[in-house]
Amino acid sequence: MNTQHFLTLDDLSTKTLQSIIDRAIDLKSLQNDGAIYEPLKNQSLAMIFNKASTRTRVSFEVAMQQLGGTSINLNPSETQIGRGEVIKDTARVISSMVDGIMIRTDSHAKLEEFASYSTVPVINGLTDDYHPCQLLADLQTVQELRGSAVGCTMAWIGDGNNVCHSFMNAARLFGFELQIATPIGYEPSSEVVARNNSSIRLSNDPREAASNADVIITDTWSSMGQEDEKNERNNAFTGFCVDQALMRLAKKDAIFLHCLPAYRGCEVSEEVIEGPQSAVFQEAENRLHAQKALLEFLMKG
Ligand code: CP
Ligand code: NVA
Repeated sequence: MNTQHFLTLDDLSTKTLQSIIDRAIDLKSLQNDGAIYEPLKNQSLAMIFNKASTRTRVSFEVAMQQLGGTSINLNPSETQIGRGEVIKDTARVISSMVDGIMIRTDSHAKLEEFASYSTVPVINGLTDDYHPCQLLADLQTVQELRGSAVGCTMAWIGDGNNVCHSFMNAARLFGFELQIATPIGYEPSSEVVARNNSSIRLSNDPREAASNADVIITDTWSSMGQEDEKNERNNAFTGFCVDQALMRLAKKDAIFLHCLPAYRGCEVSEEVIEGPQSAVFQEAENRLHAQKALLEFLMKG
């Protein structure tokens, strides 16, 4: 049987994704009740971080510990990866010793190459193109607060980036409408637009996108690897800050999501991120529960 990876949401069926989200909610309540549940005893997860991380690093490490297994953090600069060992050798060696591998890197093609040589499940912990683990937590949060993502109207205000691409995939797979507003020149990739065309609406007007939304989402204007473009991007995104005026265009009980880290005064105002509609800390905590459900699904056997 082929090894089951999780490189984008499309690696799993909607039914399986939904069962992982439901399971995340169950595991969250088990954890809150203080229950010990260790289905991954003696199993190991290798984590390779080519980019910085707070939430992904902590949530995967704690997830493995709570599930009874262990994790190993491999910093490329302290391993042979950073000295040019080829992906196909690294993938075969690491996967011969561990039970799962989480990778955060730049190129999605490199992640796919790694997965093609890995004999154990590979999980995308973010690439330049996608961030599917974030979506598991985001959909869990929407389910907890709104009952279901199905039939919702969501608004993505800002950069057409990796998280936006995963939201676009989610819109098609889960049946919600995603109203996307980006500045001209910062639209999502045309390939991802084509694949999800029937579930998304593109514009360059944040007010139009926010209109009547159940969920408003944004992310940093400069993703990791785009630090040199920061000034140019800050100028281009003028008018795209999610502030109270924009939130007022959404439904009265709309929620605000942001994968974090957030830059107050840029993509979101202090008032909105700290306000009553913000679910960003519930969303961040859900990274732990959603990934526990994902690890259980991929590694329990
Ligand atoms: N949202 C998210 O992936 O955060 P980190 O970069 O801190 O892992
Ligand atoms: N779009 C952001 C997400 C960080 C979690 C980035 O890629 O840096």
